[in-house]
Amino acid sequence: MKHDKIERTPSLMVALIIVAISFGTLVELVPLAFSKNSTTPIEGLKPYSALELEGRDIYIREGCHTCHSQMIRPLRAETERYGHYSVAGEFAYDRPFLWGSKRTGPDLARVGERYSDEWHRAHLYNPRDVIPESNMPAFPWLFEDTIDAKTTPVKLSTLRKLGVPYTDADIASAEAAVTDVREIDALIAYLQQLGTLIKARR
Ligand code: HEC
Repeated sequence: MKHDKIERTPSLMVALIIVAISFGTLVELVPLAFSKNSTTPIEGLKPYSALELEGRDIYIREGCHTCHSQMIRPLRAETERYGHYSVAGEFAYDRPFLWGSKRTGPDLARVGERYSDEWHRAHLYNPRDVIPESNMPAFPWLFEDTIDAKTTPVKLSTLRKLGVPYTDADIASAEAAVTDVREIDALIAYLQQLGTLIKARR
């Protein structure tokens, strides 16, 4: 029997498994790359401002994404807790994506405008001042350190090469926009816009 031969020849078996898995992967992934649904930005989506982009980099640097996902699944338990489920077009300008799946803390995909700036300030300085049972770490150094503004224009122009529609004016004004700004203010600016485009439409 042919199958007998395949099962008795490990190298052939491995080769055929690779072919089968590769084919399955292609069938799943290739259509997504061409589907308008997953590649077109939703209406009103703008690239991050210089300040929000720096805030996003701090979010990544501090590992916020290791405890917080940014992806609301289309399930009732999720949409009742967090709001409208996430759609692909919201993330069209995100490099890298921060969807994640580990939720030590709540999903943050629509946390923008849910709390005041003052609330975030108090919470990030020491989460237990606001939520006594919280096990989120405190980030007091964000209140002292300022942003390294010299690298900001480079970040914008690199993202432009990757397809994010920054204008020359955006890049030219980027350094001034974040000079002498404290890290906490950039991080809060980033948090306050998360997911607001869709929430605002409801
Ligand atoms: C070790 C895991 C952990 C890390 C790292 C972490 N958090 Fe949290 N976060 C939590 C937990 C747990 C909660 C829920 C309790 C609370 O509100 O403090 C939370 C809550 C929050 C909330 C409130 C969400 C809501 O809907 O009520 C925000 C905003 C937040 N975190 C932002 C951040 C940011 C920004 C960072 C990075 C600077 C960060 N977190 C890092 C665990 C973490």
